[in-house]
Amino acid sequence: MVDEVADLFGPIESGVIVDATFGGGGHTRRLLDVLGPGVRFLALDRDTEAEARAATFGPRVRFITSDFRNLSRVVEGEGIDAITGVLFDLGLSSLQLDDPARGFGFRRGGPLDMRMGAGALTAHQVVNEWDEADLRRVIARHGEERFAARIARAIVRARPVADTAGLAEIVKLAIPAATRRTGGHPARRTFQALRIVVNDELAALAEGLDAALDLIEPGGRVIVISYHSLEDRIVKRRLVSASSSPDTASLPVMAPVVAPDFRLLFRKPMTPTDDEVAENPRARSAKLRAIERVSPRRAA
Ligand SMILES: C[S@@+](CC[C@H](N)C(=O)[O-])C[C@H]1O[C@@H](n2cnc3c(N)ncnc32)[C@H](O)[C@@H]1O
Repeated sequence: MVDEVADLFGPIESGVIVDATFGGGGHTRRLLDVLGPGVRFLALDRDTEAEARAATFGPRVRFITSDFRNLSRVVEGEGIDAITGVLFDLGLSSLQLDDPARGFGFRRGGPLDMRMGAGALTAHQVVNEWDEADLRRVIARHGEERFAARIARAIVRARPVADTAGLAEIVKLAIPAATRRTGGHPARRTFQALRIVVNDELAALAEGLDAALDLIEPGGRVIVISYHSLEDRIVKRRLVSASSSPDTASLPVMAPVVAPDFRLLFRKPMTPTDDEVAENPRARSAKLRAIERVSPRRAA
């Protein structure tokens, strides 16, 4: 959703925009083209492979290998007081998904890794060492998989599970044959669950979003593109609460109504056009939400 992001950041004439999920740099590349020379970029990605790509982007882009949950520390370390825009384009890049050695794909064999960055936990440990109840809980919660109990049991019985192709086959055989052909590849939800837990993605999102809302200056905008309902739920709740007046009804004394610090730029999320989905089927589930700070920042 590069056009939408370029339009939403379009009015920005100067300051620092954080691309919190640099990936292949597609969004930063477009923003460099459309925004004036007064806008600089701080690009983050937890994937060490992103740094080499960022090195070709010239002097307006400073890249730091980091989890965006550390955004406040990174911004402070760079000596920046406030930022004018933040973009989170969540999930995995095509470069990560298409590289079997990273272990994200269920269609081709690869190691059970699934780490986006240099984290300690791998999918191999979760699949081969976690007890059945924990596995079931993760697959049910983070994969929203109704056959989580059957899948967890099948995984534990099949140990050791060597690679992604083996895991995909175990999951496929664990679910009832009649449902195997509905809702995409039968292992999709289990792989999503493992990836989320290996990278602690939901906690990172909540922390990164809070940091972005703290750091953004008046008139600045935070844009989030999410790809599944667990991410979108966190984003929607946080943005709606930031753009609502604090609830004073439960206070013991009459309190003045306080205006919210942010405004939602639109209520319903933007979704990709049919043309974009035809060109990039992975964008199918994308939802874009955006918010703007309307009040001064509070002193820390
Ligand atoms: C969908 S891709 C971004 C694609 C990018 N917008 C582009 O145009 O090329 C998501 C990227 O975010 C990174 N990422 C995901 N979670 C992260 C986190 N918590 N901290 C930093 N980077 C993260 C992934 O490593 C991946 O490279």
